[in-house]
Amino acid sequence: MENVIVLDHPLIQHKISLLRDKNTRTKEFRELVSEVSMLMSYEVTRSMPLKEVEIDTPLGVANANIISGKKLGVIPILRAGLGMVDGMLKLIPMAKVGHIGVYRNPETLEPVEYYCKLPEDVCEREIVVLDPMLATGGSACSAIEYLKEKGVESIKLMCLIASTDGIEKVNKNHPDVTIFCAAIDGRLNEKGYIVPGLGDAGDRLFGTK
Ligand code: PRP
Ligand code: URA
Repeated sequence: MENVIVLDHPLIQHKISLLRDKNTRTKEFRELVSEVSMLMSYEVTRSMPLKEVEIDTPLGVANANIISGKKLGVIPILRAGLGMVDGMLKLIPMAKVGHIGVYRNPETLEPVEYYCKLPEDVCEREIVVLDPMLATGGSACSAIEYLKEKGVESIKLMCLIASTDGIEKVNKNHPDVTIFCAAIDGRLNEKGYIVPGLGDAGDRLFGTK
């Protein structure tokens, strides 16, 4: 597996364990997804370029750094990716948000696209695609493909739990896309769910089951 970074910070790992727990209920689950996303966005943005500027402090002039280069865009894959947006925006409040709606056909597990609204200047931005679960990889690959067709050149994928199959699929189809995740689980069950994973992220976030 290439181009995958597992974020092993103890705070992230602890919160992922709470998310996996089947007794964690919707309110807490939603809060945890938001917190983990905020912690992960710290690492996902590590390579942002800086430029030196002079800042007047109350006591003199400091040679200081500010973020420069391309601006950021975050694109959650509906529905479950929505749970990761506010955590990211807490650290990067100026990021623009696009939405891509994809669901898996429960029989074929193939991704079905149903909605898309992107920032006008999406091609000039560094894009982070958000989805808590990378299972077969179909949904993420279809969202990434769509963004590339629109002309987006710089894409990262941030998920909470990734399967080895999903990572391999993204690596094969989009070797330029770095995957950031908090855990890699080995297996998918016959319904395409990650085992042990954390169950259905969308249902747990929104309380739909
Ligand atoms: C889930 C999840 C991913 C997708 C992952 O969404 O949030 O988008 O499945 O599976 P894949 O890697 O095999 O494509 P789901 O289709 O359940 O839709 P939802 O977010 O609307 O519940
Ligand atoms: N979607 C989920 O929400 N969970 C999985 O394990 C796989 C796909």
